[in-house]
Amino acid sequence: MTSISSFSAPNSWIIETQNTSYIVAIASNDFIQQRYWGPKLPRIQDYLLLDLVSNESFSTHRSDDFPAWGGYQFHEPCLKVRFHDGVRACVLRYQTASVEQDTLTITLADDTYALVAEVVYRAYPAVDIVERFVTLRNASPHPIVLEQALSAAWHFPIRDQFTLRTLAGMWAGEFQVQDVPVRLGKTVIERRSGSTGFANTPWFALTSHPTATETHGEVWFGALQFSGNYKLVLEQTADGRTYLAGGINNFDFEWRLEEYETLRLPSFVGGFTTGGYGAASRALHRYTVEHLLPRATAHTPRPIVYNSWYVTTFDVNVENQAAAAEIAAQLGVEYFVIDDGWFGARNSDQAGLGDWVVNAQKFPQGLRPLIERVQAMGMQFGIWVEPEMVNPDSDLYRAHPDWVYHFPQRPRTLRRNQLVLNMARPDVQAYLFDALHRLLSENDIRFVKWDMNRHFSEPGWPDAPAGRDREIWVRHTWAVYDLLQRLRTAHPHVIFESCSGGGGRVDLGVMPYVEQFWMSDNTDAYDDLLIQEGFSMAYPLRTRMAWVTDNLGFNGRRPLPLTYRFHVAMMGALGVGADLSKWPDADRALAREMIALYKEIRPVVQLGELYRLRSPRHNALAAQQFVYQDEAVVFTFLSQSQYGTQHIMLPLQGLEPDALYRVWEPRTAEPERVVSGAALMAQGLHIAMIGDYQSRLIRVRQQGRVEAN
Ligand code: DGJ
Repeated sequence: MTSISSFSAPNSWIIETQNTSYIVAIASNDFIQQRYWGPKLPRIQDYLLLDLVSNESFSTHRSDDFPAWGGYQFHEPCLKVRFHDGVRACVLRYQTASVEQDTLTITLADDTYALVAEVVYRAYPAVDIVERFVTLRNASPHPIVLEQALSAAWHFPIRDQFTLRTLAGMWAGEFQVQDVPVRLGKTVIERRSGSTGFANTPWFALTSHPTATETHGEVWFGALQFSGNYKLVLEQTADGRTYLAGGINNFDFEWRLEEYETLRLPSFVGGFTTGGYGAASRALHRYTVEHLLPRATAHTPRPIVYNSWYVTTFDVNVENQAAAAEIAAQLGVEYFVIDDGWFGARNSDQAGLGDWVVNAQKFPQGLRPLIERVQAMGMQFGIWVEPEMVNPDSDLYRAHPDWVYHFPQRPRTLRRNQLVLNMARPDVQAYLFDALHRLLSENDIRFVKWDMNRHFSEPGWPDAPAGRDREIWVRHTWAVYDLLQRLRTAHPHVIFESCSGGGGRVDLGVMPYVEQFWMSDNTDAYDDLLIQEGFSMAYPLRTRMAWVTDNLGFNGRRPLPLTYRFHVAMMGALGVGADLSKWPDADRALAREMIALYKEIRPVVQLGELYRLRSPRHNALAAQQFVYQDEAVVFTFLSQSQYGTQHIMLPLQGLEPDALYRVWEPRTAEPERVVSGAALMAQGLHIAMIGDYQSRLIRVRQQGRVEAN
């Protein structure tokens, strides 16, 4: 049965997922109106469907799903346009609708100027997600300029109080969970400097007061599938209406739709649950895994990676890399990745970016000898690139100084001694594909870490086709997606990792093109515990790469036990980035054991569902649980001891009540037990911990069924 049906009321459609309903209708003014978004109700008659159109002078009641600016509407519009004759008012009215399987398409058109908007709703019933996107078409013979083109407006029911959750942050301090009470007026979550960035992530969760917990409470949530400048605007008006509109940021944006051209706006997905933040995250994770991540590897466990950056930085050569690889291989690492410094004249961050040829001083015979040695050790080889950037001190820049964003009249602002290549230019796109394609064709490379280390400034494109220079904000992002896709198609065995100085390009837009993200340049395990929790609100942990690094190293904040560092990094895709040559034998032996253990639990932590049992934000003793098929893994962390041993009962989640589970704790003397799922979820595990930065890893596996007494 299809999940979308029209019903009794004319021009009304109900979009149903397993647990939710979303109802849209064509209102009496011919606009699309959202009538309901919440739990699925038992009978169609149960939905209270109000037509909120009002003709009163000062009324603000509106719930347009795709509002255009121009009629009598003053909320954040999705669409603001300029027609060729200077008219700036746009009124989109209903034309037709069609339903095809899980997709509803409602076509709107401006009656005077032949601008058409196809507003699409797509249901993903099994994962409780609704996807929305819009395609704009200029069906007139004159150009139409888009000044604002957001993907969707979402409306929330009237509640006494809402709390908005966002993931704010900074470099080396990404994904900080922030809960703010929603007040009258606007809250803007946005990005203006070219890519997703650190300050926020294009995701929101809204809960009604009293605030939701991990397991209870209504939560509306959503994420924009875009890695460029974005804007999410949440507004509450004094009449109690709350809505959120989001999409490409209109800041410095303009898009010229020529005759018969179309523009497909980024998808914005949303969901609803009564199961609190935990259920909201799991729904988005499932959607991401089932529908966004590259199909071939979506369900494949990510390899254990060694990366040499914090050890050798730019000073890489065959011998020091092979030496590091040797020890990594002995520990059980699967991929060896050479980071920055292997190409061009790259001896520091002052030169070389843009010249994607192997540095002949460091690698006189190219990369092959190193790759062959790494492969002989039983590992695959990976490499770092930063394709979107160029150092002025590079052959590329000397040949093409006009290939960067710039305004000819202004000096070009350098950051980390580099400038941003204008990826909107077809010649830049062609150069980058050729260079990277050659690199991957000439060398057996199986992993690419794709970095991006600065924001855009002076975003000019002097040679742009007339009126198109402000399109760079979108075209750059599209070009990155396109380049990744072409490389993936040409080199299907390569795993791609998105990095931007850490978690600066983590979003659902880039998800179809990469397996994973470098979550943060901050590898201090305690900080990472917090960053990981925030990341997991929106993104599945199989996409989170974290390394075990040296204490007090590049980013180390404090000496932390090696087990604690491993346990934190093991909650996702595991990497190692330490100077293993300096590790005493005991540490290497412990690392070998931890990596072997990780290989056993990897399907559970990477492919399983996440339950955040106790947040490190609120509890000195924090816990997370992963469940996959008949198995679970529980991690507990006591970051700071107070008043002696801390005892808690830790109820687990997501188990089968009638199953019996074997509970054991590898590498400890804790006695093994067999307990029913019901007991583990009601009574819980007894956890006693003492000391600073202590951690435990407990395994739980089904072993038969509960017999009736
Ligand atoms: C920033 C990344 O986040 C680091 O991991 C490393 O790859 C450096 N760039 C290299 O320049």
